[in-house]
Amino acid sequence: MADIGFDGKVAIITGAGGGLGRCHALELAKRGCRIVVNDLGGSVSGEGGSEGPAHDVVREIEALGGEAVADASSVATPEGGEAIVQAALDAFGTVDIVINNAGILRDKSFHNMTPDLLEPVLDVHLKGAFYVTQPAWKVMREKNYGRVINTASNAGILGNFGQANYGAAKMGLWGFTKVLAQEGAKHNIKANAIAPVAKTRMTEQLLGPLGDKLEPELVTPVVVWLAHEDCDVTGEAYSIAGGQVSRFFVGRTPGYYKHDLTAEDVRDHFAEIRAEDGYSVPGGINDELRLLLDVLKD
Ligand code: NAI
Repeated sequence: MADIGFDGKVAIITGAGGGLGRCHALELAKRGCRIVVNDLGGSVSGEGGSEGPAHDVVREIEALGGEAVADASSVATPEGGEAIVQAALDAFGTVDIVINNAGILRDKSFHNMTPDLLEPVLDVHLKGAFYVTQPAWKVMREKNYGRVINTASNAGILGNFGQANYGAAKMGLWGFTKVLAQEGAKHNIKANAIAPVAKTRMTEQLLGPLGDKLEPELVTPVVVWLAHEDCDVTGEAYSIAGGQVSRFFVGRTPGYYKHDLTAEDVRDHFAEIRAEDGYSVPGGINDELRLLLDVLKD
């Protein structure tokens, strides 16, 4: 089968001045994609800023014979999102792929979390994805083509101590992904999420010796496939680490039904409500409503 190529396509990758975003940018560029390398160039906790990292990655892409432009706007404001998409339109005339990857960490256990630890994390991860994707969405709807990849995290999907802010933002991105998948369906726009684990500046202190097996380059192949026009899945989330790829999904247990349900019924049937045997994976709320109608019709 032919290699996965991106000739003629344009991708915006946020936070691509280092870590995972840089790997995605280099690999897509090698495969013929033109890239907007966005990066604010701040610290892991989101302080400061520099145009350096975005420009450095553009130089790396050019050295490989690829095409890229740098953008140092913040994803965390509507104006920043507009500027990033405008950079793609000015340089390349369109946008086909948005990879929302920019991120910061401000970890603290919940009882000590303060608004200055919450708001910037929601702004960059969750609102940032809105602000960048929305102006790109307009272009994608008009051309009837688009691919959106949101960087979620197992810290949201599964939970992680000290990351109430980050986990909430990352799980919010999964809801965002699922809604975009439905709204994009008739415009040939696919939206998926990834939950990566990789050794980057964000995680190098946390992963210990396992980190050496978790190269960020091993996350990128999934991103490349999800960004490609031949990949027609949408509304899904993938766990990716060190070459292992799996799908996360939301399952619904068959549960328990009684037309005059009481609290005592819930207590007495709690094991049945929770039992995972025979679970289903509804694709959207209509799927769940159909399951409900089956039960409630009698
Ligand atoms: P990283 O710190 O190397 O990359 C994040 C990049 O985002 C940085 O280059 C930073 O300058 C940029 N950035 C931060 N705020 C920005 C803003 N307002 N506007 C534009 N750019 C901004 O860390 P890494 O690990 O590469 O993270 C990439 C994404 O993957 C993040 O969303 C992170 O939360 C997510 N992630 C990473 C995991 C890992 O194991 N490394 C685990 C789960 C999720």
